[in-house]
Parts: sequence; structure tokens; C-alpha cells
Amino acid sequence: MKKLIIAAIGMMLATNLNAAKKPTANALQFDPNSGVKASLTMPDGKVVNYTAYTKLYFVTNIEDPTYQYMNIFVPEGATQQTPIFLRTYVGGYLPSQAGDPQAQDASGRALSEGYVLVIPGSRGRTSTVQKGKKTIYTGRAPKALLDLKAAIRYLRHFDSVIPGDAEKIITDGTSAGGAMSSLMGATGNNPAYKSLLKAMGAADERDDVFASVCYCPITDLDHADMAYEWLYGNTDSRKSLSESKRALTAELAAQFPAYINSLGLKKADGTSLNADNYLDYIKQIIIRSAQEAKDAGADIPDSLGFTFSSEAAIQAPINGGVGSARPAGMTGGMPPMMRGGGKKVGEYITDLDLDKYLNYVVSTQPLKGVPAFDSYKVDGAAASGENGEFGNDQGSDVNFTAWAAAKTGSTLSEELKENVRLLNPMYFIGDGVSSVAPHWYIRHGARDRDTAFPIAINLATKLENAGKDVNFKLPWNRPHSGDYALNELFSWIAEIVK
Ligand code: DHB
Repeated sequence: MKKLIIAAIGMMLATNLNAAKKPTANALQFDPNSGVKASLTMPDGKVVNYTAYTKLYFVTNIEDPTYQYMNIFVPEGATQQTPIFLRTYVGGYLPSQAGDPQAQDASGRALSEGYVLVIPGSRGRTSTVQKGKKTIYTGRAPKALLDLKAAIRYLRHFDSVIPGDAEKIITDGTSAGGAMSSLMGATGNNPAYKSLLKAMGAADERDDVFASVCYCPITDLDHADMAYEWLYGNTDSRKSLSESKRALTAELAAQFPAYINSLGLKKADGTSLNADNYLDYIKQIIIRSAQEAKDAGADIPDSLGFTFSSEAAIQAPINGGVGSARPAGMTGGMPPMMRGGGKKVGEYITDLDLDKYLNYVVSTQPLKGVPAFDSYKVDGAAASGENGEFGNDQGSDVNFTAWAAAKTGSTLSEELKENVRLLNPMYFIGDGVSSVAPHWYIRHGARDRDTAFPIAINLATKLENAGKDVNFKLPWNRPHSGDYALNELFSWIAEIVK
């Protein structure tokens, strides 16, 4: 028994020592002989063999050893010319530990397509370390992005020994991870991050990337509340809120037109995209999305607000034959099973009642509260994850917009304002200083209400206006989610890396 107790105490001591032991290094390390062979079985049964290099610390001043490293997976056949797919698992602005390839998502798919896969860890809004008796929050903004940038710099630092081409890095993430992906793409080499990265002991290298894949990026946080109320403020669910909440909705919504106009965006035809035509622009994007799904066989009910051409489907010539017009008052050439009680829908969507459509979106998932993002203490609301993201290393929640701060009697320090800026890709695109990725793949589900459509639309449009190659959609019927339609994603990647 005594022996057992002594052994147990010994083990506890050893565990504590391990927990306290922080890897220290004067220089970044990569050992080409440290690879371990492994394999991944894909959903279709294909087995992908790869070599894993794990626990690669990407900074020398490691503050949080749980998160500040990355794993690299090199599939058989990869060379120095192989593009690198960098998948961040950041979600909810939370910390994210470097893991293994997943057969079900884009990480496994990237490996199976032969790309070198990189999974970096990063600190997040809840990651902490103990310093003596103090609990220190290690991952408040912009720390996650700094970690990801450090990982990119590490890849460049060891580019000659790590298989893969550091000039062909494609970042991928979803939601807050989509925001991180957009930030890696938009803020390349910007000097504003330089001293922060230097202090961490990141490699003194470039950190721009070749392409960014952003699924439902929860970004432009300082304008997300106004966009949300501007878009959703007139939905039935908002109308049933208390007087005080409705007043907040109206105040926030009223700020959005000036913001939109300040961006000076242009549509593809070169004409101005502004507050006066923005709703129609959204409508056209959603119609395009629904039409694409309809062409692929999806049933698009008119109850969602769509109007259809009345006849096209039955008048179209079949197999070179001559289309027949429907005799007035009759069901024309419709097959019997389509003559039932409901409305007949033609082949083309011609219009959308956006109010009706937005009510449909909200019927699939209730809206966030008011305000949706910078909620802390505003009219008694609780803190959001974003309020924590901008808090300090003591774990505080803070307001991060001037509007919410004014409501709660707080002020935004200069440091906080800078952190908000450093976490918003919109400030960097076209600034003439940042090396913005040339290729972008941006998706925000057509019924994703985690942030308003304009957030993704503005990001995509600003990038297009800056001359970038942007593949952007609000994919039909998608809620808040990522790494879907991987056939489509990976054929896009195959094109851009050619
Ligand atoms: C995520 C979702 C949100 O609604 C949000 O506000 C922030 C992050 C996410 O899923 O990562």
C-alpha cells in the first residue's frame, strides 16, 4: 500500500513536471528525419499513405505549449512543387489544437488529392496558462491570427526541407476559422503585425498566401451588428421583440447604409453597389443560387418567396423537337404527377420577395439576440464570444464597437481599436501595403443566419474590386457549415494551382 502511494505521488510529480515543462528553443526546429508513416482511409475506401511531422512549434517564445505548434502531413508522391493545404480548425474564436487529417472533411480530401496538409494549432479566446497563482488568457485578439501567421512563416523558413511549395499555400477554415482564413489571405506581410510576431519568436519570413478558402466567415465584426439588423430587423421575429430591443435594432440598422456607401464597392459591370441597390443585389445572388440548385434538380418551393416563369419548362423543345405552347386554361404538356394541387412552377426563377425569404431563413433557425455580436451589457444582454475575443489577458469581456461602448458607458482604448482593426480583413484589402492572396473561394450558406449576408458579400466584392480571382456563392439551402461540396472546391483548387 505504502509503495502504491509513493508510486502514485511519484507519478503526480512527474505529470506536474511534464505540464510545467515548456519546450524552449533558441531557434525554430524541423527535423526531416522525424516523420512517422501513417495512413488514412477515405469514405470511398481509398487508402492514403502519408508521413506525419508533428508538434512543430512555430515560435521560439512559446507562451502556450498546448496550441502553438502545427502538424504537417506529406502524402506519398508529394514533391517540393506540391501545393500546401492549410486547414485551421478554429471555431467560435476558441483555441484549436493541431490534430490529424479527417477523412470526412477538406483535410483528408486534400491529402487524398496529393496535397501537403498542414494543421496548425492556435490560441483562442478561452486558452489560459498559469503564471504563478495567476490565470493568464493567452489567446485574445489578434493572437489566433498571429499563431497562424507564425505557422505560415515557419513553412517558408523550412521550405527547402519540408516537402511542398510555400508559394502555393491554400488556407481553409469555417466560421471563425473562415474569418481566420480570410485574414491570412488579406493581411499578408502587413507591417502592423510585424512587431507582435517578432516578440513571439516567429520566423522572420513573409506570411502572404496563394489562396484562401473561407466558409461562412464570421468577420468584419465591427460592422456585423449593423448589417444584421439592417437585413433582419424587419423580419417577423424582430417585430415581436420588446420596445427597447426594437429601438436598438432600428438604431443599428440605420448605421449600415453609411457603412456600405463608405466602402465604394462596384458591381461586376462597374456600376456602384450602394445602400440604394444593395437589397436588390442580395436578391439577385440568392436567385442565382436557387436557380443553380433548381437546374440541378432541387425542388424550390414558391412558398419561400420566389416567382417563376410560367411556361418555360413545358415549352422547351425536347430532343430537337418543337416546344408546344400550353393551350389557354389547360395544364399543357405537364406530366400528370405535376398537375396536382400546388402552384405550377416554370423553369426560371424571375423574382424573389426578399422579406418573405428572410422570414423563411429565420424560420429554419431563430435569429441571434440584439445586438448579435457586441452584446455585452447592452440593454442587459450577456456577453457574446466576440466580447471575450476582444477582452484582455485577465479574461475580461469588453465592448468593441463605439456604439455599444457608448450604450454601456465604456470607452474603446487605442489598443482595443487596433486589435479590432487587426482582426478585420476589410481594412487590408486594397490598402496598397498588404500582399493579398490572388485567389479566393468564399461561401456563405443561403440560409446561414450566424452573420448577415452582406458580411460575405462585401468581402467578396471588395476582393473582386481589388482585381482578385474570387469564386463566391451563397450556396442554396446551406445553413452555417463548412467543407461541403468538396468536389467543387477541389476542382477549383486544381485549376488555380495549374
Ligand atoms: C462562430 C459562429 C458564430 O455565430 C459566431 O458569432 C462566431 C463564431 C463559429 O461557428 O465559429
